[in-house]
Amino acid sequence: MDRMDVTEEFAGIQLPGHLHTPQSLQYAQDFQFREGDVVIVTFPKSGTTWMQEILTLIYSKGDPAIAKSVPNWVRAPWLEHTYFKDTLKDEEGPRIITTHLPSDTLAPALQKSKAKVIYIVRNPKDVAVSFYYFHKMAKFLPETGSFPEFLECFLEGKEFSADKKTQNKLYYGSWFDHVKGWYGQKKNLDIIYLTYENMHKDLRRSIKKVCGFLGCPMYSEEVDKVEQHCRFSVMSQNVMVNYTLIPTEILDHEKSKFMRKGVVGDWKNHLTEEQNENFNRIYKEKMSDCDLQIDWSLN
Ligand code: A3P
Repeated sequence: MDRMDVTEEFAGIQLPGHLHTPQSLQYAQDFQFREGDVVIVTFPKSGTTWMQEILTLIYSKGDPAIAKSVPNWVRAPWLEHTYFKDTLKDEEGPRIITTHLPSDTLAPALQKSKAKVIYIVRNPKDVAVSFYYFHKMAKFLPETGSFPEFLECFLEGKEFSADKKTQNKLYYGSWFDHVKGWYGQKKNLDIIYLTYENMHKDLRRSIKKVCGFLGCPMYSEEVDKVEQHCRFSVMSQNVMVNYTLIPTEILDHEKSKFMRKGVVGDWKNHLTEEQNENFNRIYKEKMSDCDLQIDWSLN
């Protein structure tokens, strides 16, 4: 398997070399978006795959044929990944593009374009838990040590302890910087912000919101179908999105499932009271210069 132990440095963050190369990252930075492009932007584990599925089904008017026959990374490829250039369809009509890159690398190109951007934010406590389990299964990510060690790294950008296989900072950078950076683009881009929690609470409403943003009206029966196929129970059985097509040497589903739990508030099963208080303190501190107001108690 290629470059499993390689770390790429880009724009001040570290990324897995298995998926990224200097060339693929440069290509992403130089990419020319065009009118009609729809770009899903997330920090990992925030609901990326879910939105890829929602957009696929919106554009197919609820017909699941494509969602069930084409892998999500082909339908909505990651801009920064090595295979992007050869995968993005160059057809008329909306191109769905996915990215985890920070705002400063892409905002200039997006500002010049008429691309539409969908940013999803998820309670960082649940992101930390989900990302921790993803590190367990993804062989191209460093070993994390215990959950408390990982949490410290997630919150403070500290390096994983020195006795681990590789000594790395949190790949993909800081959740706080990612969210603040992209939220800071609210006046510069054609962008909407959705939360994982609201999608969870009322999927239908979120689907309609996305349809409105895209200017893509749908009949109620079509929305019914989108909703039906984007449920966790359905998506977790769809091999085109549950990542079971990826060999075990890369994603080990014995360690954790990609479609793991799909719930809001799993952090309550993982953080101690003390860790939670510390999290709240750091969240308050780091988000004090950001007017993003989200009630994370939503469920
Ligand atoms: P958990 O690990 O908490 O279960 P991403 O696609 O950004 O990597 O995010 C993955 C997370 O989104 C996982 O969270 C996964 O289970 C969850 N997810 C994916 N599809 C979902 C759906 N239809 N409903 C709820 N959660 C979903």
